[in-house]
Amino acid sequence: MFLGRIQNYTCIIYKNNIFTFQNTENTEKSVPLPGSEVRARQGFQLHNCCFRFQMNNLSIVPLHNYPNYLMDCCHLINDEWKRSDTARLHSLQNSCDTLPTSLILIKDKKLIGHLKLSVIPSIKEACFVESVVIEKSLRGKGYGTILMRKAEDYCKSCLNIDTIYLSTKGQEQFYSKIGYTECPPISIYGSLATKTVSPQCKTENTNKTVMDFPPPPPPPLPINKDSAIKKTFMKKKL
Ligand SMILES: CC(C)(COP(=O)(O)OP(=O)(O)OC[C@H]1O[C@@H](n2cnc3c(N)ncnc32)[C@H](O)[C@@H]1OP(=O)(O)O)[C@@H](O)C(=O)NCCC(=O)NCCS
Repeated sequence: MFLGRIQNYTCIIYKNNIFTFQNTENTEKSVPLPGSEVRARQGFQLHNCCFRFQMNNLSIVPLHNYPNYLMDCCHLINDEWKRSDTARLHSLQNSCDTLPTSLILIKDKKLIGHLKLSVIPSIKEACFVESVVIEKSLRGKGYGTILMRKAEDYCKSCLNIDTIYLSTKGQEQFYSKIGYTECPPISIYGSLATKTVSPQCKTENTNKTVMDFPPPPPPPLPINKDSAIKKTFMKKKL
């Protein structure tokens, strides 16, 4: 995948030979062209990365394509949710083009936001968004919304994901303003979905489900009953 810019339009997604461009007014247009043809066009500078959203002085990119931001990202998240730098860095270094993916928001070359997209083993074509954080001094200015919206574009266009899940304690209003609705809790642990045996395959003792893999270990128990109760699960169909 290749991204680039023509005049005031920035390429935000390139998939299946279709380039999607966006201008500074957020107007989008899609151009069906093979990469080689676009590359030949004058004024089109290409970047070798899968996803890059750019608008004025803001950009959103996968962290693994910009490892120079690893340490800043570690500090941004640890300022909000305390954890050792070693453990945090270890987790951030798992970011990749499939999942998990950490997307970072950069303003004037400074990292100001992060979110992580993770696999939900039991739900194909969905992912779980977590560790959504904007630098403290810049909250309430719309950056969280931009980051979430562009993450949704990334999920839909680059990962073929149609539903995003999350859980939150206290940020329900922020998420509902951008289209997330409450849903029953889901487990982000475990392995692939189970298959039910069709009736004709059942024997007298097999009136039950068959697992593709051995059953997953049970999820860790919540630390206390209160914290489990107050968590709200939310989802958005893209
Ligand atoms: C939650 C967070 C990412 C939101 O980012 P942000 O840049 O401050 O959000 P925005 O400025 O885009 O806010 C969008 C809207 O949501 C509202 N909003 C944001 N946080 C809110 C909150 N905690 N409660 C109620 N409304 C909230 C804003 O007022 C704004 O409303 P408006 O459009 O009517 O003005 C940011 O506040 C943050 O990093 N919080 C600490 C970490 C955290 O709790 N992350 C969520 C984990 S689930």
